[in-house]
Amino acid sequence: MLKLKSVDLKKEEIGTLVIPVCEDKDIHDDREIASLVRKAKKLKEFKGEKGDELILFNLPEVKAERVIFLGMGKLEKLDLETLRALAGKAVKKCIQKNLSEVMISVPSAQKIQKEMSSLIEVLLEGAYLGNHLFDKYKKEKKHKPLKNISLFVKPNIAKQFARLPSRVSTICKGTILAREWVSTPSNDKRPEQFTRSITALARKANLKVNVLDEKALKQKKFGAILAVAAGSNSNPRMVTLEYNPKGAKKTIVLVGKGVTFDSGGINLKPSTGLEEMKTDMSGAAAVAATLITVTKLKPKAKIVGIIPVVENMPSGSSSRPGDIIKTYEGKTVEIGNTDAEGRLILADAISYAIEKYKPQTLIDVATLTGSCVVALGEKIAGVFSFDDELAEAIVQSGKKTYERCWRLPMPDDYKELLKSDLADLNNVGKSRWGGAITGALFLSEFAKDVKWAHIDIAGPAYIKKENAYCEAGGTGFGVRLFCDLLEKL
Ligand code: BES
Ligand code: ZN
Ligand code: ZN
Repeated sequence: MLKLKSVDLKKEEIGTLVIPVCEDKDIHDDREIASLVRKAKKLKEFKGEKGDELILFNLPEVKAERVIFLGMGKLEKLDLETLRALAGKAVKKCIQKNLSEVMISVPSAQKIQKEMSSLIEVLLEGAYLGNHLFDKYKKEKKHKPLKNISLFVKPNIAKQFARLPSRVSTICKGTILAREWVSTPSNDKRPEQFTRSITALARKANLKVNVLDEKALKQKKFGAILAVAAGSNSNPRMVTLEYNPKGAKKTIVLVGKGVTFDSGGINLKPSTGLEEMKTDMSGAAAVAATLITVTKLKPKAKIVGIIPVVENMPSGSSSRPGDIIKTYEGKTVEIGNTDAEGRLILADAISYAIEKYKPQTLIDVATLTGSCVVALGEKIAGVFSFDDELAEAIVQSGKKTYERCWRLPMPDDYKELLKSDLADLNNVGKSRWGGAITGALFLSEFAKDVKWAHIDIAGPAYIKKENAYCEAGGTGFGVRLFCDLLEKL
C-alpha cells in the first residue's frame, strides 16, 4: 500500500493530491505542480506559511478530485522532520475526511538540498506511521486507515528507489507493533499473556524463541526478577529471541524492560498518572518488535533480544523496602525503594545476556526513571555509555530517525550514592538528584566490561496528545532507532 508512482497528472484519476509548499521558494521540479502552487499562492488565504492549508476542488490542470496544499514555511528552515510530519498530517487529514487514498507530491531534492533517498524515506515514514489507528477497544470504529498511499515522483526516481517503500513499511510495521503493545491496557498484557503475544509473533518471524517460566527462574536463581514479581499474582517470564544469520561475526544483545504495570509496589506511586504505568514495558516492546523486524531487514550480525517480563504490585507477598536480595550474578542488593524495580530486572537480564551470549555490544532500553524526563523532557531519550563510539552511533541514529537521544554522564564519584551498609549495592541513590544517572550507574555494575549502552526512554515512550504521525499512546520509540543502528554496528 506504499508506492512510488510517476503518472500523468492530467490523465490519472487521483482522489487526493497533496502538494507541500514553501512560503518563499519554488520547491517543485514538475511544471504542473509548480503552476498549481503559483495558483494557490495567488489566493489571499494561502501563503505557504507553516500550518497553512488550502483545498481546491476539480482544478482543470489535474484530474485529481481535490488538491491539498500544505504550507511548510521558509525553505532555509525546512528539515527532514518537517517533511515526515507533513506526510503524516496529509494522511491524517484524508482519514478524517473518510477518503481511502492519497498521493503526495515529492519536492525537488536539488531545490531543497536534500538527498533524494532521505526525502522519499521520511515522506514514506510519516505517511505510513500517520496511517495507524488503534481503535481495537472502540465498539464503533469512526475512521478507517487509508488503503493506498503513494508518492508522486519522476519515472527514473520511481525506478531507482523502487525498493524503498517495502523497506520503510517493514520498519514502520515494527514501530506500530510496539505502539500497540504499549497502548494495550495492563489487564490485557499481564506477564504470561504479554509473553505469549511476543513469542507467537516471534515464532512466525522464524526467530529462535526461548522462555524461562517462574520455575526455571527460581531454579536458575534470578533473585532480582523474582523479587520484583513477588507481589503479583501473574508469574514472571524471561523471553529470549535470537536472530542468527549464517556467517555472523558479531553478537549484539538488546535488553528491554518489560514491566507490564508499575504500581511502585509497597512504595506505591501517587494516584495521579498511575494509569500511565501500563507503558512501563515500552523497552520490551521496542526490543521484541525490533527483533521481529530484523528478520526481514537481515543485518549481518547475530542479534539477541532479552526481555524480562514482570508486574510490579503491592500485596502481602511483595518485596519490602529494606529487603536484601541476591541477583543472578551473585551481588546482593538492598531494596531501598520497590519502585526502582526496572534496574533490578535489567540487572539479572544483563548478567544472563553476558554469561550466555558473550556479546560484543549490549544495549538496554527502558522506561527507567522519571528523573530522565525531568532532565530531557518528554521527547528526548537519555543515553548512557562508557564507550564514546557506541554513544555517538546511538545519538546519530536518533538524529536520522528523529527518535532523539542525548548523552548524559556517568561520573565515577556518583557510584558512592549507591552504597549500602548491609548489601553490595542499594537499588536507589542516597541523593534525590541525578536519578537517571544513578539508575544507569546501577546497571553498569552488571554490564561489567562489555561494550554497553543504556537508553532511558521514560519520556518519549508514549505521548498524551497525538502528534503529526502518532496517535496519543505508545510511540514505538526505539524500533526505528535500532533498525538504523543495527545495520551500522
Ligand atoms: N517506571 C518508572 C519510571 C517512569 C517514570 C517511567 C515516569 C515513565 C514515566 C520507574 O520504575 C520508577 O518508578 N523509577 C523511580 C525511581 C526512584 C524510586 C529511584 C523514579 O523515577 O521516580
Ligand atoms: Zn518503578
Ligand atoms: Zn518502572
